[in-house]
Amino acid sequence: MSESRLPVSRSEEHNSTPRARRLDPDPELWEAIGGRSGLRSVLQDFYTQVYSDSQLAPFFEGVRQDYVVDKQFSFLRSILTGERNYFGNHPRKAHSWMVISPELFDHREDLLETSLIRHGVTKVMALRVRRIDDVFRKAIIKKEPFRLKGRGPAMDGELQAMRMDVGILCDFCEAEVTVGDWVSYHTRTGKTWCSDCRPVGPRGIA
Ligand code: HEM
Repeated sequence: MSESRLPVSRSEEHNSTPRARRLDPDPELWEAIGGRSGLRSVLQDFYTQVYSDSQLAPFFEGVRQDYVVDKQFSFLRSILTGERNYFGNHPRKAHSWMVISPELFDHREDLLETSLIRHGVTKVMALRVRRIDDVFRKAIIKKEPFRLKGRGPAMDGELQAMRMDVGILCDFCEAEVTVGDWVSYHTRTGKTWCSDCRPVGPRGIA
């Protein structure tokens, strides 16, 4: 599968699996969300929560909120309607540099469910959205960033464990980090987490 294409349903080819069926177009869910305007409002609300969430916001440093809303909008719209109008990256590639635990993934899904319900979507329908995201669970959850083929570290951001040879302030809690302390350093954004904000030590990032 090419990195930029989503897995498509093969039900018409008579070899559908439970996984493929979960990405079949879902006009009922599309309508329950309120179509284009409903989905946009849900996502604006969702990413407003994400951008002020202490666990999720650090991933979005330097990423415009309206850009992520647009991408996520065309991603979900394309799945729900079956129209091929998502031209972004496959989630595996988009999240290649992000270390995302199962708990963090679920936390994001809880916020999304809250936004859906706040916009009048029923719990049952909100769970159907979660089931779509679950298809990408394995592609997104990982303990270490992975390098994309043919790309050097300069283009891929990744988190690295680093021992400080100068004193700095943590970019997140602003606590003092002194010479010899271990930090997590993001090679794309340059952001630095102290070991309290993101556990790290000689054996790497926890
Ligand atoms: C804790 C979980 C997640 C985090 C922290 C996260 C974070 C991010 C960030 C920071 C970006 C912007 C990347 C960039 O352009 O620099 C992004 C993009 C994106 N995310 Fe997530 N994400 C998570 C889960 C998901 C899930 C579950 C889905 C859907 C299955 C998803 C779908 C997307 C899509 C479609 C894009 C745009 C891809 C592109 O074209 O570049 N994300 N995500």
